[in-house]
Amino acid sequence: MMYSEDIVEEVRSRNDIVDVISSYVNLKKKGSRYFGLCPFHNEKSASFCVSPDKQLYNCFGCGAGGNVYTFVMEYENYSFPEAIKSLADRAGVKLPEVEQSAEDKKKADFNALLLEINKEAAKYFYYQLRTNRGEIGYKYLIEKRQLSEETVKKFGLGFSNKTSNDLYQYLKSKGYRDDVLKESGLVTIDERGCFDKFWNRVMFPIMDIHNRVIGFGGRVMGEGEPKYLNSPETRIFDKSRNLYGMNIARTSRRPNIIVCEGYLDVIALHQAGFSNAVASLGTAFTSQHASLLKRYTNEVLLTYDSDNAGTKAALRAIPILKEAGLSAKIIRMAPYKDPDEFIKNLGAEEFQKRIDEATNSFFFEIEVLKRDFDMNDPEQKTRFHNEIAKKLLVFEEEIERKNYMDAIAREYDIDVKSLEKLVNTYGYKKLSQPTYQRQAPVDRQAKDDGIKYAQRLMLTWLVEEPALFKKLEGIISPKEFTEEFYGKVAKLLFEQYETSGTVNPAKIIDYFTTEEEHKQAAALFNTSIREELSDSEKERAINETVRRIKANWCEIAGGKATDFNELMEISRIKQSLQNLHISIN
Ligand code: CTP
Ligand code: MN
Repeated sequence: MMYSEDIVEEVRSRNDIVDVISSYVNLKKKGSRYFGLCPFHNEKSASFCVSPDKQLYNCFGCGAGGNVYTFVMEYENYSFPEAIKSLADRAGVKLPEVEQSAEDKKKADFNALLLEINKEAAKYFYYQLRTNRGEIGYKYLIEKRQLSEETVKKFGLGFSNKTSNDLYQYLKSKGYRDDVLKESGLVTIDERGCFDKFWNRVMFPIMDIHNRVIGFGGRVMGEGEPKYLNSPETRIFDKSRNLYGMNIARTSRRPNIIVCEGYLDVIALHQAGFSNAVASLGTAFTSQHASLLKRYTNEVLLTYDSDNAGTKAALRAIPILKEAGLSAKIIRMAPYKDPDEFIKNLGAEEFQKRIDEATNSFFFEIEVLKRDFDMNDPEQKTRFHNEIAKKLLVFEEEIERKNYMDAIAREYDIDVKSLEKLVNTYGYKKLSQPTYQRQAPVDRQAKDDGIKYAQRLMLTWLVEEPALFKKLEGIISPKEFTEEFYGKVAKLLFEQYETSGTVNPAKIIDYFTTEEEHKQAAALFNTSIREELSDSEKERAINETVRRIKANWCEIAGGKATDFNELMEISRIKQSLQNLHISIN
């Protein structure tokens, strides 16, 4: 870890988890905890819970959980260094300068330089648009594309001159070296000389979510090939991770985000008041795009071009969005090609109507599927129905599957009972396919779960009531937690108690590096048992749990022991379990 344990802990303790999460999620107090709608999955009732005592959060619905670091890392997609920086800023803690390796430092400096160059270029293009030479570009944007002066400004649109290397000259005059300029992708430098990549084009600066210019798209004014020219991917420009317009859309406070195909679609939509529009950067939609969107919304509206290519692109994007936990709908643009043309012809109000009428992505998929079959041919029609039945299996929940089945049957005039039979047939086929993972015999499995549960329960108790440590002294130690993960947690908890006389579960989370471990630990610490049991019940439960944990350890240790004395000792412990009694009052 780059930062010392102390500083990590200081920053954590200065950022109250309820305060931090409240700025993202609407929390309501219930008893000693706070509840709200989980930002990590779609839900209607609040199963997301934040505990101020333990400084942890935990979702009973999707299992997300962790401390304040885990939360900002998951929500903002931050790495740990980014998370600690943002939380330190928030609390006014000054982080010590971290020792960067010479190589890391060089890399960071180089990236900063590339960002600086892109910013200079954006300023240059923006300025050129307003000179005599740029008038043709200005006219194109304002007259031909019907953009307002305000829109041109908002998106920082610009113009690259007809001359072959004036941007290069300009950047040179600012003192940038050839090798750096070459890496920026804005110029080509070879034996023939130094040339600008973009010339005689209107320029669209592409910004990341922090409003930093990372690249450009340039369009010819009128006809010409290629219609668009884009910056190549560089160390700061990753097309599969950025979306055009996201820097604005992220703050639009709308219930969804509109994803379209082109720069000018985004711009036209924003100008018409739909400030939640974004576009991919002339490349296919990726799962990284989906997780970027997921940071800001739960619902995506796709408005891909109404041609074949656009339909294909939409069909490819739907499963990617679903996989990221986003719901997807399709906005129809017909009879127009894309949102830009649609808005020019029919206006914002009509577009809003199309948003309201957006098709659920499943219906869209079926509709497209239908095009492959001739409904007048009974054989093809039957195949179409079979394909629908297979597709309906994606809905694992029975009621949801049934609702879709009813809707589809109605829409395509299919007998719902026959469709249901067909779905069930495919369902059984799927179920009866061999599963390659051999299952453990049931009783063994149940026993394992019981032991796991006992260890988990014990850890929960220790966190809830650190006074138990004293009562269990010499009886329970970390070694008896034979489940690997619980063993790690136990070791950390016992150490904390020994050094400080108390426990700090939120701090323990920072010893774990994977998201999965954060979730597990948070779920573990966020269970509460106190309310559920009377004192005598609790005493009985604790004794029983200790016995199970120790018996399990004896069994495992006995199996591994090689030495006679060791075996005798284990057997003695086993015997003593019968008389074990821990009094908790
Ligand atoms: N694109 C590209 N290179 C091309 C053509 C297209 O990178 N040669 C990308 C651009 O990001 C463009 C998007 O694909 O915005 C959609 O292309 P297209 O539908 O052809 O253009 P429009 O966005 O509709 O632009 P315009 O309205 O100016 O024709
Ligand atoms: Mn267009």
